[in-house]
Amino acid sequence: MRTRGPLTLGATAVLAFGLVSCADLGGLDLDTVGAPDKTTYVKLALNQSESHPSFIALENLSKRFEERTDGRWVIEVFPNEQLGSQQEVLQFVMSSAIEMAIVSGTQLENLNKDFQVLNMPTTFGSVDHQMSVVRDQDLMEPLFTSLEDQNISVIGGFTQGSRSIYTSDSPVLTPADMAGRKIRVQESDMHIRMIQLMGGSATPLSYGEVYTAIQSGVLDGAENNEVSYVTQNHYEVAEHWSQTEHLVGLDYMVMRHDLLEAMSEQDRDAFLDEWDKAMVEHTDLWNAETAQAIEDAKAGGATFHEVDRAAFQEALAPIKDEFLTTPFQRELFDKVRAADTAESTDPESGE
Ligand code: GCU
Repeated sequence: MRTRGPLTLGATAVLAFGLVSCADLGGLDLDTVGAPDKTTYVKLALNQSESHPSFIALENLSKRFEERTDGRWVIEVFPNEQLGSQQEVLQFVMSSAIEMAIVSGTQLENLNKDFQVLNMPTTFGSVDHQMSVVRDQDLMEPLFTSLEDQNISVIGGFTQGSRSIYTSDSPVLTPADMAGRKIRVQESDMHIRMIQLMGGSATPLSYGEVYTAIQSGVLDGAENNEVSYVTQNHYEVAEHWSQTEHLVGLDYMVMRHDLLEAMSEQDRDAFLDEWDKAMVEHTDLWNAETAQAIEDAKAGGATFHEVDRAAFQEALAPIKDEFLTTPFQRELFDKVRAADTAESTDPESGE
């Protein structure tokens, strides 16, 4: 089975023992990866469920790459945090215990603060703007190669769409409604600050723990996209969706740098080509899946609320000066903003 096959010894060890060294996991022999007489199995960790667009696009990527290499390469996609939380699987890629993972930009900003530029409210005006930036290889090159000395190659990205606030008891319509609410954020200093600026109190937590934390009342809510709201069943415990759209989030495909280097040029080119198609397919799926998620959430009892979006934007305005602290970060931000064609045609745009 190409995806979600039975866990290999390595993956079982990961699950059983948490952070174990790669030597214990029977890692790949880099001298023979992709050889004609064998199949090289590559483990890819994902924290989403099987119905999420990321899983679908990755399964299709896996299928195409296997076909294109006559079965010499098989990418096994492990969904649902089977191999660990994003924080854990990023460590596993670094230590070569697994080969690939999809991780949120917030995880990478903990390795290199320059990633914050792309994780910040106000950076991206839309999913299309974001994906045109992510597929701009010249623009992304300094960021994507910046973690190679930690054995991480960043291959590209999948959109997280625009993220909004959702809460359990009553809706959030203005920043004042955020007062005293404990809102889950990803493990990121900038996102903690983001919720504070929006008026709430932020609690960093891994994705898989959010449902229970809201259900038990430890948290009052969270922020995410509509697709995650539904695929993680968060609407069951937080029925008020407030359309803040405060951030267009970004996931990254990360891969062992030593493995990318060990691939033959032909296999590497084939993989990167198929990955680029996966980004396009994922973006195409995103809008349809978002519309479907909204319908599903409503059918499941969720209420969608319009909010004072301008007030939230104003509250978030200081984040830019607080987090763009180096010339490189400011320059990258300016280049990304300049690529937002929807904005640049707007005479009111001050950016
Ligand atoms: C989105 C994103 C994930 C991330 C999650 C989160 O679902 O795609 O990569 O882990 O948000 O809020 O943690």
